[in-house]
Amino acid sequence: MNGYGCLAAYYDRLMADFDYDGYLEVLDRELKGSEGTDLCCGSGRITVALSKRGKRMTGVDTSGEMLGEAMKNARAAAVNPVFVQQDACVFRPQHPVDFATCVCDGLNYVKPKDLAVFFENAACFLKKGGKLVFDISSEYKLKKIIGNNVFYEDYDDITYLWTNKTFSGGVKMELTFFIRGEDGKYIKQTEEHTQYAHTQSAVESALKDKFSFRAYDFADMGNVKAKTARILWVCERL
Ligand SMILES: C[S@@+](CC[C@H](N)C(=O)[O-])C[C@H]1O[C@@H](n2cnc3c(N)ncnc32)[C@H](O)[C@@H]1O
Repeated sequence: MNGYGCLAAYYDRLMADFDYDGYLEVLDRELKGSEGTDLCCGSGRITVALSKRGKRMTGVDTSGEMLGEAMKNARAAAVNPVFVQQDACVFRPQHPVDFATCVCDGLNYVKPKDLAVFFENAACFLKKGGKLVFDISSEYKLKKIIGNNVFYEDYDDITYLWTNKTFSGGVKMELTFFIRGEDGKYIKQTEEHTQYAHTQSAVESALKDKFSFRAYDFADMGNVKAKTARILWVCERL
C-alpha cells in the first residue's frame, strides 16, 4: 500500500525545490482547450494553477489526505476544480476532455503491469488530438541517485527521514516523521512508498498505437540522456 497519509500535510513544504514554474511553462506552451484532468494530482499544485488560468479542471488521486490539501489550496486560490478520489488507471470523466497531465512521479507509482492500462484509460477520455503531458523519475535517478540512500529535513516542528532501498523493479521508500506536539513532545509516524523504475522503452511501448509522443530531459528540455533524472513526455492522442 502506497503512502501519502502523514506526508500530505507536509508535502508542499517538502517539495519547495520542485520546479513547478518550469513545468507550467511547458504546460502553457503545449495544452490547448479549456478542459483537463490532472491525474495523480496530489496537493493540487498543477490542478489549481491551471484552474487559475481559466481551465475547467478535475484532479484525481487515490489519497484522501492529499486531496484534502488540494481542496485547501484551491480554496486559498479562490478556484473551484473538481477533485475525485480514484485510481488514475480507471478514472473516466463524464465526457472526453482536451488534455491530461500527470506531474512529478505519479506514473512511478503505477505498477509496470498497469502502464498500458493507464495509457489506454487516458486515451479513452482524451479527445483526438488532445495532449497528455507526464513525467517519471528515471531508472537512473531511482537506482543511482536516491536508491540505497537516506535524506532528511529538520524543521522546528517536524524532522523527516527518507530511507530508500532499491529492489529489481524500483525503490522502496520508508518515510519517518517526528512531529512536535503542542506540549513539545514528538510523535513518530511512518509510511512506505514504492516507486517503480520504468524504462523509457517500456513507457513508449505502452504509449504506441494510442499516442504520438516526444520525450525530453526536464532539466533542459533537450533530448533524454543516460543521466537524465526526470523524463517528460508530451503526447498527442491519435
Ligand atoms: C509525488 S505525488 C505528485 C503529486 C502532484 N502531481 C504534484 O505534482 O505535486 C504522487 C501522487 O500520486 C498519487 N497516486 C499514486 N498512485 C496513484 C494512482 N494509481 N491513482 C491516482 N493517484 C495516485 C499519490 O497519492 C500522490 O498524491
